[in-house]
Amino acid sequence: MTPTVEILTNRADLIERAKELTIETVKNAIAARGQATLALSGGSTPKPLYAALAKADLDWDKIFIFWGDERYVPHDHEKSNHRMTREALLNHVPIPSENVFPMPTGSEDPATDAKKYEETLQTFFQTSSGEVPAEFPAIDFVIQGMGDDGHTASLFPHTEALEVTDQLVTVGNHDGEPRITFTAPLINRGRKVVFLVAGENKQSALAQVFSAKADPKAYPSKLIQPENGPHWLIAAAAGVGVPDSFK
Ligand code: 6PG
Repeated sequence: MTPTVEILTNRADLIERAKELTIETVKNAIAARGQATLALSGGSTPKPLYAALAKADLDWDKIFIFWGDERYVPHDHEKSNHRMTREALLNHVPIPSENVFPMPTGSEDPATDAKKYEETLQTFFQTSSGEVPAEFPAIDFVIQGMGDDGHTASLFPHTEALEVTDQLVTVGNHDGEPRITFTAPLINRGRKVVFLVAGENKQSALAQVFSAKADPKAYPSKLIQPENGPHWLIAAAAGVGVPDSFK
């Protein structure tokens, strides 16, 4: 699971490359399996990618959209990843509403909503509950961001969510604020897992993620080791600490 690392000159080049990679992966998935499944990340880095994809010529009726994590707020809340993605992408493309699977945040109990989303995934991918990670569903394209503390999705350092390996979806914890998040084993089943990382403030965490001795519990992005290796798209400033051996 050797990582693929691409260091791009700046954010704009990172987004352009991410767009290319997304389109290529989606088209290949549709050609191979008649559909493409994507898990989207929240945060600010991927937003211009979503806006760029809104202008791309894609078979939206064969594309199925999931989220890798969600803040535990209503879908019209300014912090909602679902709202951000709708405004940047989904409101601008002819994707059937039944192809879009927002993470539920309405039951007032994050664990209930996490379970609901797990059931949504199992129904869509026809996997039964109690699967071992090796039988978790394989999403074609999983977009991940990374925080300046090394978190990814809503897998934050030293939280219980990092230990969950027998579920697809669990409850994350960001400074006491609940999140709904994919578990690391589900992300690792992704056929293509792509990190988009930009910003000087990510330098230190990224160097740790690429360091053999760093503790994955302290830098949860280290837990993301899909079979084909993670594909890192890094804007130069963030990648200063990535060892040359990976570049
Ligand atoms: C979220 C994301 C989160 C994000 C990182 C990086 O819900 O915010 O899923 O994991 O990817 O915090 O965020 P930026 O792209 O804004 O730096």
